[in-house]
Amino acid sequence: MTKSILMCAPKFFDIEYEINPWMDTNNPVQPDKAAKQWQKLYAIYSEQLGWDVQLIDPVEHLPDMVFTANGALLYKGKVALPLFRQPDRQPETPKFETWFREAGYTELFLPKYDFEGEGDALIWNDILFAGYPWRTDKPAHAEVADFLGIKTISLQLIDPRFYHLDTALTIVSSDTVALYPKAFSEESLKQVRAIVPHVIEATDADAVAYGLNAMSDGTNIVIPENAHDLIAAYKANGMNVITCPISEFQKSGGGVKCLTLELK
Ligand code: ARG
Repeated sequence: MTKSILMCAPKFFDIEYEINPWMDTNNPVQPDKAAKQWQKLYAIYSEQLGWDVQLIDPVEHLPDMVFTANGALLYKGKVALPLFRQPDRQPETPKFETWFREAGYTELFLPKYDFEGEGDALIWNDILFAGYPWRTDKPAHAEVADFLGIKTISLQLIDPRFYHLDTALTIVSSDTVALYPKAFSEESLKQVRAIVPHVIEATDADAVAYGLNAMSDGTNIVIPENAHDLIAAYKANGMNVITCPISEFQKSGGGVKCLTLELK
């Protein structure tokens, strides 16, 4: 299935502040290496998979704008914009808003509660899995779901290393989701297992390698190169696995999926 996505080049990407357990301002980004890794991901999407890749201009001193997944959540042409929890990222919202208006989107929504876009909101079939509490407030789920007109299941994240839902759960296909069980409350795990026919469980090593921060179209899956068990599981399921190094982005607590926003 061909997808349309939004990316942002890592021109100003760095560790300028610390807002999650992965970020350490003493462990700066190597710009050339980050550019190479990002270019590789861009080429996988645009050349290898033939997806439509749109770009938003990077902005100086908005180092995390490269993580476009946090820039919105789209459903049926409607755009829910983010209200970032940390002031450092709040100036990104008007940049994304301008991009969507210029691209011709007319139904835009600004939530009242903290909401970090697709980072905490993943659509599986016609259900929205929405994460809380690290970066997104639980009440944001209802306001965003009302605007988009989608049924929502709130999932509680309990490990600060997996602070966005997309670091702990991958939408693999219409019948499969992969997740890191230890990142979720018991109740939330039960809810996922009750409705998703096939749940793949990630090992500690794969979760820490950001293996769940992957991008799938149901046939092809793009995933960090060192998520070994997940890669084996996807291959055993007959998927085409494409690997990409993301070490520079993981210094910021990001990976493949964080660098990608779906323009549904
Ligand atoms: N440094 C960024 C932050 O902490 C990383 C964002 C990762 N994005 C994601 N969708 N998980 O906000």
